[in-house]
Amino acid sequence: MGKKVLLIGQGGREHALVWKLAQSPEIDEIYAAPGNPGIAELAACVPIEVSDTQKLLDFAIQQNIDLTIVGPEVPLMAGIVDRFQARNLCIFGPSAAAARLEGSKVFAKNLFKKYGIPTASYNVCDNLEDAYACARFFTDQGKAVVIKVDGLAAGKGVVVAQNWVEASQAIDSMIKELSFGKAGEKIVIEECLVGEEVSFFAVSDGKDYVSLLAAQDHKRIFDNDEGPNTGGMGAYSNPPVYTRELHKVVLDKVIEPVIKAMAAEGCPYQGVLYAGLMVTAEGPKVLEFNARFGDPETQVLMPMLKGDLFPLLEAAAQGNLKDYRMDIDTGSCVGVVLASAGYPAAYEKGKVITGLDKLEVDTLVFHAGTARKDNLTLTDGGRVMAVVARGQNIAQAIDKVYREVAKVHFEGMHYRKDIASKAVNRKE
Ligand code: AMP
Ligand code: GLY
Repeated sequence: MGKKVLLIGQGGREHALVWKLAQSPEIDEIYAAPGNPGIAELAACVPIEVSDTQKLLDFAIQQNIDLTIVGPEVPLMAGIVDRFQARNLCIFGPSAAAARLEGSKVFAKNLFKKYGIPTASYNVCDNLEDAYACARFFTDQGKAVVIKVDGLAAGKGVVVAQNWVEASQAIDSMIKELSFGKAGEKIVIEECLVGEEVSFFAVSDGKDYVSLLAAQDHKRIFDNDEGPNTGGMGAYSNPPVYTRELHKVVLDKVIEPVIKAMAAEGCPYQGVLYAGLMVTAEGPKVLEFNARFGDPETQVLMPMLKGDLFPLLEAAAQGNLKDYRMDIDTGSCVGVVLASAGYPAAYEKGKVITGLDKLEVDTLVFHAGTARKDNLTLTDGGRVMAVVARGQNIAQAIDKVYREVAKVHFEGMHYRKDIASKAVNRKE
């Protein structure tokens, strides 16, 4: 009998995962909680929120789900994997203790230091006086300094301060004003690294791992990385900065040591290892780890996987990754996020989206914030959808994705025009 899968989440990342899982001959039924209108074309959406662990657990038991896959980080930190495993259910993702790799910057940095994993030098502070002194150490030398709250902060807990004024404001906001609540009880103050950022993705079962591939995202709202941060305005896979040589170093100095370190600390890491790296003149250094797939990186990773995703994630959840391999396509995928007017600040919803029926058959559209009403697809979020195209190289993929994006329309639609252009304008 075919397998039943439950995917938890509702964004573009989850749509891309469902799109890939739907191609698996091993799967009979896919459920998504709560899903979105794009996901609903491929899976049965059930109206359970990602944070409602009890209802998700009841659903998985009632439906005899063979594998549950967790998309976002919040249920992981809340211990959904521990709850499912306690009932002998197979679930892909780290335990709450292992998810601290993303959920606590202090835990992660101390782990990197203890096991010699390359990262920016840092101090942990829990009071104003120490924090000021640590920041001054950098700013007095005319250097930038990076200030991070310990806990999850929806992408807003990191400040790259160029000088003392910016640094002290960030520290005041975190420690004095408690703007991040408990997440800011401790803060990390670290050296500002210089280089190009890249993300690398692997899947681990706690002992062994399968290497996937690298991607770059574009966090700022406007071209040339200007304006405020967003949830991600686009991404592309196989960036040229991530060379074969770099890959070897990343596996050797980052991925393998982290897996060993987590096991040695008594919290073996099962799930996605998403390494945020800075490629510095001294080699790659870890900026952070995330305990899940990236968004919008997943939208440009899934189309690059040649093999079946389901048995990979199932084998990881069962601790069977030894000698497992995933073949990756050559070339690249570029994904452009279409956003509502005003995003990342206030925006209107309910605009009619047109042109999706004009897209070429091999162009992919992953929904993030959409709604369906009377056979119309409407905007229902800040980031509405990602249009993704493949190419034999990045330039081809860029060309195609922007030709396709030009066919789509909704009132106020805006998007970055320079996704992946860094890759083709490189000076080596
Ligand atoms: P994080 O959540 O730790 O990855 O930080 C978010 C973003 O802040 C990263 O994607 C980088 O752009 C920037 N960042 C974090 N740490 C550093 C650092 N030590 N040096 C330079 N930039 C950093
Ligand atoms: N693309 C950034 C993230 O998923 O955290």
